[in-house]
Amino acid sequence: MNATTWKEKLSAIRDSFSVSIAKSPAESPEAIELHFLGRKGELALLLRDLKDIPLEERKPLGALGNAAKQEMEAKLAGLKGAAGPAGPVTGSGLDLTLPGWPFPKGSLHPLTVTLNRMAECFAKLGFSIAEGPIIEEDYFNFEALNFPPFHPARDMQDTFYVDLKDASGKDMLLRTHTSPVQIRTMKNQEPPVRIISPGRVFRSEAVDASHSFAFHQIEGLYIDKHVSMADLKWTLETFMKDLFGSSAKVRFMPSYFPFVEPGAEVEVSCVFCRGKSETVRCPVCKGTGWIELLGAGVVHPNVLKACNYDPAKWSGFAFGAGIERFAMLLFGISDMRMLYENDLRILKQVQ
Ligand code: DAH
Repeated sequence: MNATTWKEKLSAIRDSFSVSIAKSPAESPEAIELHFLGRKGELALLLRDLKDIPLEERKPLGALGNAAKQEMEAKLAGLKGAAGPAGPVTGSGLDLTLPGWPFPKGSLHPLTVTLNRMAECFAKLGFSIAEGPIIEEDYFNFEALNFPPFHPARDMQDTFYVDLKDASGKDMLLRTHTSPVQIRTMKNQEPPVRIISPGRVFRSEAVDASHSFAFHQIEGLYIDKHVSMADLKWTLETFMKDLFGSSAKVRFMPSYFPFVEPGAEVEVSCVFCRGKSETVRCPVCKGTGWIELLGAGVVHPNVLKACNYDPAKWSGFAFGAGIERFAMLLFGISDMRMLYENDLRILKQVQ
């Protein structure tokens, strides 16, 4: 045999060894070892043939043969490890004990998390979700809510008007609150009604740490027979305890909104200092121990009448709250603008 033939044979052995390895575990590593590397294996026999080759050519061929042998042994060891019971796999380059690839995953926006939590609390109390348009008619945003034209209460909410007219020729507007969904829902369904309505609202306001021209509210409406202020108080107290913990307390301060009578500002006991900011003045409740969170009240008879609900038969309560304010309290965010900047350092903190 000459050197060229010997090399071709070695290459053929390596090829068929690779084929056998690929078939493993159908072919066991032990059988492959015996066939190629055993005392009478293919490689051993080929190495024995080296003696027929002239001495000067024999040396590099021997080195090639040994390298092939080592490579085969390593591959076999890897194969045996992979088939073995446990422990790191060596040899094949596959180590199952290494940590996996980190797949970057996103998270929900703090406002979405807050809204979901609030909606969950109300879902437990039987409230379903209603929605309304963002570009709204004066009638739904103001008139049917007992804001007559030129009523000074319209100035409580600086309105963005849109270059579109409604059917009555009035300018359309960006809704200034989620309260118009009350009207749309009542006009579309018979009582009883038990809904919440989250969504975006817009007001022509300067932006600062606690104001924005585009923010989010959640509206609530409950209409049935004999619904009273007591039901409103129980509902909001139950909701606050669910969201902020069982020590949360609620108090009502008299207030005015055209669509409710009586109307109230609802305050929750400070979730940060729990009313105990004796030494350092709590920056959240300003040392008062209370945080103003919602507007609420008993639905005004004029609102029921506008929706063809008989005020002698039906009564109800309504409430409205800014979602940003809740998000800031839940996640300890001191500046509302942080909620709109999409800074990953903020977004990553909320899961
Ligand atoms: N719509 C009011 C606002 O944006 C909030 C509000 C107050 C909603 C009292 C209500 C309510 O449903 O009863 O300022």
